[in-house]
Amino acid sequence: MKAALVSTKLHHLYRNLIWRSFSTKFAMANSKFEYVRNFETDDRCLPNTWIVVRVDGRGFHKFSEKHEFAKPNDKRSLDLMGKAAGRVMTEFKEICLAYGQSDEFSFVFKRDMDLHKRRASKLMTSVASIFTSAFVFHWPQFFDIPLKYPPSFDGRVVLYPSTQNLRDYLSWRQADCHINNLYNTAFWTLVLKGNLTNAEVISLKVL
Ligand code: GTP
Ligand code: MG
Repeated sequence: MKAALVSTKLHHLYRNLIWRSFSTKFAMANSKFEYVRNFETDDRCLPNTWIVVRVDGRGFHKFSEKHEFAKPNDKRSLDLMGKAAGRVMTEFKEICLAYGQSDEFSFVFKRDMDLHKRRASKLMTSVASIFTSAFVFHWPQFFDIPLKYPPSFDGRVVLYPSTQNLRDYLSWRQADCHINNLYNTAFWTLVLKGNLTNAEVISLKVL
């Protein structure tokens, strides 16, 4: 009994000695390698500017074909995009406005916010990641066919120093939406209802 107790104590002693020796070595190695942290660049967004994060579906031309999206606009897709954007806004209270069209969504962060120290990569990747996972998560609520492969969205950060610049940015995306819709509606009406081929429509000079 006594011998067993001594053996257990010795076991603990050895274990502690071995662990201390290892942890000292690891701590030394850690400080030796730690300099690599200095390679990380500081990507904090300029203070007092409007931060816009825009996500865009990657390869959605193919994705929309594979998942038989209606032409020119698929309501299920647009509603799902809106749902995913809502999820991003629930997650980030610092977003004051969002605007979406086609396979893209822009998120405007409040000018004075300091979330994640305004680090561009942290904000952009978080928004793109939450948006993508919400898009996949809510897919079955909007589509009755399963996903054929995982969709993804890229992201970018753009800074606008004045409110006028921000207004112009949103007007630009809105004009883009109208131009594309006008073109796509005319194009697909001529193909689907006018029985013209895609090439014939493209060759029409009025478009
Ligand atoms: P990258 O963004 O560069 O990866 O290319 P992309 O293929 O996603 O093209 P882009 O973002 O420029 O344009 C989005 C594309 O998605 C459109 O050109 C359409 O082909 C498709 N798309 C988006 N919304 C709809 C929709 O409601 N219906 C249909 N049929 N297609 C859509
Ligand atoms: Mg795209």
